Amino acid sequence: MKFLSTTTIILFFILISSSLFVVKGQVDCVTQSNDASCVNYVYPLANITADINSLCVSMPYMPVCSIQQSCNQVSSTNGICDPFSILGDSCLHDMPGMSGCNNFKKLCASGSVVKQCSTVDSITNLPTTMQMWANIQSICTEMSMAGCEKCTKLNATCDVLPVYSTLCLAMPEMSQCANWTKMCQSTGNVLSSPISSGICTDTPTPATNCFSDPSDPKCTDYIYTSANSNTDISTLCKSMPYMTACSIQKSCSDASSTNGICAPFSILGDSCLHDMPGMSGCSNFKKLCASGSVVEQCSTVDSITNLPTTMQLFAGIKSICTEMAMDGCEKCSGNSPTTTCDVLPVYSALCMSMPDMSQCANWTKMCSSSGQLYDSQITSDYCVASTQDAVPIMRMYFHTGILDYILFKSWVPRTDRQFAGSWFAIFFFAIFFELEKTLRSILEKRWAPKKKDSDDDNLINSSLLKGSYPKFSYRDIIRGSLHAIELTCSYALMLVAMTFNVALFFAVIAGVLVGNILFGRYRNYTPRVTCCE
Ligand SMILES: *[C@@H]1O[C@H](CO)[C@@H](O)[C@H](O)[C@H]1NC(C)=O
Ligand SMILES: *[C@@H]1O[C@H](CO)[C@@H](O)[C@H](O)[C@H]1NC(C)=O
Ligand SMILES: *[C@@H]1O[C@H](CO)[C@@H](O)[C@H](O)[C@H]1NC(C)=O
Ligand SMILES: *[C@@H]1O[C@H](CO)[C@@H](O)[C@H](O)[C@H]1NC(C)=O
Ligand SMILES: *[C@@H]1O[C@H](CO)[C@@H](O)[C@H](O)[C@H]1NC(C)=O
Repeated sequence: MKFLSTTTIILFFILISSSLFVVKGQVDCVTQSNDASCVNYVYPLANITADINSLCVSMPYMPVCSIQQSCNQVSSTNGICDPFSILGDSCLHDMPGMSGCNNFKKLCASGSVVKQCSTVDSITNLPTTMQMWANIQSICTEMSMAGCEKCTKLNATCDVLPVYSTLCLAMPEMSQCANWTKMCQSTGNVLSSPISSGICTDTPTPATNCFSDPSDPKCTDYIYTSANSNTDISTLCKSMPYMTACSIQKSCSDASSTNGICAPFSILGDSCLHDMPGMSGCSNFKKLCASGSVVEQCSTVDSITNLPTTMQLFAGIKSICTEMAMDGCEKCSGNSPTTTCDVLPVYSALCMSMPDMSQCANWTKMCSSSGQLYDSQITSDYCVASTQDAVPIMRMYFHTGILDYILFKSWVPRTDRQFAGSWFAIFFFAIFFELEKTLRSILEKRWAPKKKDSDDDNLINSSLLKGSYPKFSYRDIIRGSLHAIELTCSYALMLVAMTFNVALFFAVIAGVLVGNILFGRYRNYTPRVTCCE
């Protein structure tokens, strides 16, 4: 009996404790996260996924959505790619106020004993959506770069984390990239993660110690290959297609030249020595050619002397185009350069047609006859207008030169020979003009009524005019025609003079002078009075 009661008591205790355990097991750890029994509670994966989806449906541009995607792509579910950590990226710092974070916040509220909350491995120093958006806007107003086009508005097209990373990978030294630098520092958890590529890393560095120690005497003969240079130039031009180096590369490949300033390493130098050394495409160049470098390629790099920077060129274009609308200005209408605005060709074209503008001082320097650009195979793109394509411009002041429209769109002398031909055409035309004037005055003289003709049958008496005048005759048609021809000639000559081209102006004057000397005196002709007239 005693044994029975003991067993009963034990059984009773087992029952009580197990029922207690059951009650404990039903504690909702999401709402009572401080309950001791919730230590090992694991928030179900399905609910995490549902929460992330809910966040990403309402704000698809949030970093959490890009991170989830990147993690899916590399099939990783550990560390920062653990779904609960991904949810934490949003709910710990970024947008804790969103409904998708309700469960996470309750589960991991202060006092929570849930282990999962203390092991969450969210990205350290991940900037918030709004910080990244602000930085993107700031970068993109400063200069347009590849990626900016996605973020004209904060909507689904603009995934802030990849876009911000792309911009900062291209220009890591921009002040707006301070937060990116912090996120991607070597002590952070992104750089070593499988999703680092595209967020924190980009161009691989060729395996040689000449990049870490370019002063090593063994590096004297190290050659950074053309292929490597071209890869770097592509990297640069992918993010800023309007950069000077990209235009130069294009001109060089059009001219099939790979020497001197057209050598890929020199083109890279155009960008990395003066223009945009902060861009990631320049990181290898900068390492290799750092101060103290013994690499011979660096001391012989033939980058263009006095090449203005991309931003100086754009400022020059803006200044010229505000002063006067010219062909080419329409390509650079924005407040920052865009893909249509290749600054170097546009600026050069403007300065080739108006070389005397003050904004072209830097062009004059770049294209000075002692510079390499002037002597190169690509000079016709930037320094010397090929006369075949140059467009004459209207200059309302006396000027020399041969490039002017003469009366017709297609009459543009482009060679000295053509100009000489035009000059003589105008000269003889002016002589013809004088001849025609003389002819008309001779005819007028001959047609003038003689004194004794006052009772001529051909005269009409008019009481109104108090005199007589000739009847209508074929002479009136000839006189009118001659006068029309004379007026046409004189207007045409006037328009030629109005090209303000000094040589053409004097072609008109010389023609009139010679014509007048030759024919002027005939205007004083007196018709011979014959006995019978
Ligand atoms: C998880 O999701 C399921 C299905 O939607 C739901 O029934 C359950 O209550 C959720 N669990 C928590 C802890 O929110
Ligand atoms: C986002 O905004 C831009 C600019 O207004 C627009 O071109 C783009 O189509 C929008 N994207 C989406 C997914 O709505
Ligand atoms: C970087 O992030 C901090 C907060 O983490 C913020 O206060 C700061 O404005 C950010 N810096 C820039 C340049 O946006
Ligand atoms: C020419 O280049 C210099 C620097 O080399 C720059 O300071 C200046 O503003 C440029 N001039 C013009 C007119 O763009
Ligand atoms: C015109 O008037 C003059 C005299 O004034 C006269 O001799 C002449 O015959 C007139 N001619 C005609 C056509 O009427």
